[in-house]
Amino acid sequence: MTEILSVQDLHTSFYTSMGEVKAVDGISFTLNKGEVLGIVGESGSGKSASMLSIMGLAGRSGRVKAGKIIFNNQELNAENVRNLRGKNISMIFQDPMTSLNPVLTIGYQLREVLRRHKWQGDIRARVNEMLELVGIVPRLKNYPHEFSGGQRQRIMIASSIICNPELLIADEPTTALDVTVQAQILSLLRGLREKFGMSLILITHDLGVIAGEADKVIVMYGGRIMEEGTTREIFYSTAHPYTKGLLRSVPNPENPEARLIPIEGQPPNLLNPPKGCPFVKRCPQAMKICLEHKPETFTLSQTHKFSCWLGVKNDA
Ligand SMILES: Nc1ncnc2c1ncn2[C@@H]1O[C@H](COP(=O)(O)OP(=O)(O)OP(=O)(O)O)[C@@H](O)[C@H]1O
Ligand code: SF4
Ligand SMILES: [Mg+2]
Repeated sequence: MTEILSVQDLHTSFYTSMGEVKAVDGISFTLNKGEVLGIVGESGSGKSASMLSIMGLAGRSGRVKAGKIIFNNQELNAENVRNLRGKNISMIFQDPMTSLNPVLTIGYQLREVLRRHKWQGDIRARVNEMLELVGIVPRLKNYPHEFSGGQRQRIMIASSIICNPELLIADEPTTALDVTVQAQILSLLRGLREKFGMSLILITHDLGVIAGEADKVIVMYGGRIMEEGTTREIFYSTAHPYTKGLLRSVPNPENPEARLIPIEGQPPNLLNPPKGCPFVKRCPQAMKICLEHKPETFTLSQTHKFSCWLGVKNDA
């Protein structure tokens, strides 16, 4: 298997008037060509911040403080990522309104993506082809506000895949869409993977989508990775108390009849993160060590790891 992306000990903070928000606190993972990685975790766990860091788009207040991002054997930096962005690595953003320019027609915006990346073929034909693919009858002279939220999301998707990226990062790509369109988009992304070997990072709150689409899963909380494994391992050999809580709190495709039990309490304030395990205040199995020391990562199989002091028992 060819590795396409490797993220090593990534730390990203946002600097606000209230202080430093440690949004990403040392995450590492790898992704192979053609693979689908699902990322789950409650709101504020650092999913978008880690992906924006990879894209070099942490914004004015955001800063990647440490870590390495290697794409196709090349370490990314502010310079080279700019050339790869939109072409080799592309992202479907969580908020589509922030990524379409309101004063330019969508036809112009899509053509511009192709021109910027020196598309070799017929630009007009490609734009029409992509809009048809996402189910938007070409209305090239229309402006973003002339489309519904769901249509804008589909235009965004067309724009992000128009250059056949090797890696697509999709941040909640289908949340705003109705179930039928959602299924169409997922099937479209599946087609691109099969046809071009595109790799996909899929952030979603929908565990059904994860179960159906992902090869492997990362569970994030408090800016850290709590558990990582194949989709099977995450659903059937769940190790981390947070993952167990998450699976009980949202509809679980593997157990649709189960009663939903919310995780009590709130995620940590990342302006002042806990010294030890970020989940300590909500964890039913918390121990004394969890308050003081960040948990080590324990290996359960070649593909399955979790970051929790309960792993000490498994290791013994
Ligand atoms: N531009 C920003 N300025 C300040 N803080 C930010 C900024 N963007 C994100 N944060 C903070 O960083 C942390 C991680 O946010 P992030 O958006 O990555 O969460 P998320 O997992 O994507 O959540 P959601 O599921 O709601 O999209 C949160 O505490 C959030 O408030
Ligand atoms: S390290 Fe401790 S607090 Fe954190 S999840 Fe494990 S048992 Fe719970
Ligand atoms: Mg997000």
